[in-house]
Amino acid sequence: MTNRFLTGAFAPATDEVTAFDLPVTGRIPDELNGRYLRNGPNPLGLEDPEAYHLFLGEGMVHGVRLRDGRAEWYRNRWVRSREVAGRLGEEWSGDPDTEDFDFAANTHVLAHAGRTLALVEAGPRPYELSYELDTVGPCDFGGTLPGAYTAHTKHDPRTGELHAVAYHFGWEYVQYVVVDARGAVTRTVNVPVQGGPMMHDFALTERHVILYDLPVTFSMDLAADGARLPYAWNPSHPARVGIMPRDGDGSSVRWIDIDPCFVFHTLNAYEDGDRLVVDVARYPEMLVAGRLEDVPAPALDRWTIDPAAGKLSSQRVDDRPQEFPRVDERRVSEPHRYGYTVSAAELLRTKAGEALLKHDYMTGVAEVREFAAGSAVGEAVFAPRSPDAAEDDGYVMALAFDPGRGATDLVILAAQDFTGEPVARVHLPIRVPAGFHGSWVPDQN
Ligand SMILES: [Fe+2]
Repeated sequence: MTNRFLTGAFAPATDEVTAFDLPVTGRIPDELNGRYLRNGPNPLGLEDPEAYHLFLGEGMVHGVRLRDGRAEWYRNRWVRSREVAGRLGEEWSGDPDTEDFDFAANTHVLAHAGRTLALVEAGPRPYELSYELDTVGPCDFGGTLPGAYTAHTKHDPRTGELHAVAYHFGWEYVQYVVVDARGAVTRTVNVPVQGGPMMHDFALTERHVILYDLPVTFSMDLAADGARLPYAWNPSHPARVGIMPRDGDGSSVRWIDIDPCFVFHTLNAYEDGDRLVVDVARYPEMLVAGRLEDVPAPALDRWTIDPAAGKLSSQRVDDRPQEFPRVDERRVSEPHRYGYTVSAAELLRTKAGEALLKHDYMTGVAEVREFAAGSAVGEAVFAPRSPDAAEDDGYVMALAFDPGRGATDLVILAAQDFTGEPVARVHLPIRVPAGFHGSWVPDQN
């Protein structure tokens, strides 16, 4: 087998495992009561391994429940899409007559309004999971979601709303979707776009929604060739950033042309007077000829946008290769001082990240926390020490393979002792494949 996304750090888990009372090195902080969850592609029943695309493996959610200083359980579960349920010999939980696009959500997992949701972009609905990660079924937010949803949402700490921008290859628009604190869609806005851009993420500030219409677009040629992910770098597509007031409509978007690039992920964004500040991981190009194998390294940039003048200036914050930018979730859409990323020198090689970075945007200093070679450390998720603790006063959690043990640890770092000994390493019973995004879900959610 030569497909690099099926070997090494990416080799899929073969079984669903349930383990209780996990061994721990160090001490799990008593205040961490809840679940660390992470989603990622984990193909099931692959017929053609050479044709496998990392973005299209069936979703598997991994979870670790922490309570009162103990790691109560680890579970990993495939998200039961129609196809996954069929392959596992189970009855699908969705409407058997529906023709809606369906996929085992593989990109993100979070909780909102009492639901645990596995998320993916480009057409399907989310899947709701139980607390123990069993699939409840496709979720349309109680019948209020008109169509597709997406993987990257922004939770507004002021209003409790969950904001998102969904795209679908069949739409001539992207759709801004607001889900209220009770879990119902209260607002959708269609923003016209041309050429089917891949819009993986967006940015949210106190008053604005910021859209990335960048030159990776749906490719009819790739689709005709049978590509499973028919999106590719398209130099003829404009690169532009759209600024829409949160209460605006599709005609109120102000588009600003920028140099060609691609952005998968926003670290955070906020308003600074009349300007907007947007921190992103930026690639000079992406998916050239549809290929993920030779992508250039992403770096951390800061965009400062003057909406009135229609100008965007870009500043390099850190040119070391890095991805999966995260912020203290309580700062989303508000000014932040700190951000956390994963070293990405080998992110899409079989050696995934081997360091986490903590950026202090006030001092311009980044701390680098190295992990053992081959540890394939994943996205860093911040958990505050208490709900009203200061920014960065808490823990950074990430999955890292322990080559000595041959299995993965949930590593818990004190954010303010980023390069010191981990507070705890929770020893999971299996190797968790390198994956995408996750969340710390405290139990009160
Ligand atoms: Fe993502």
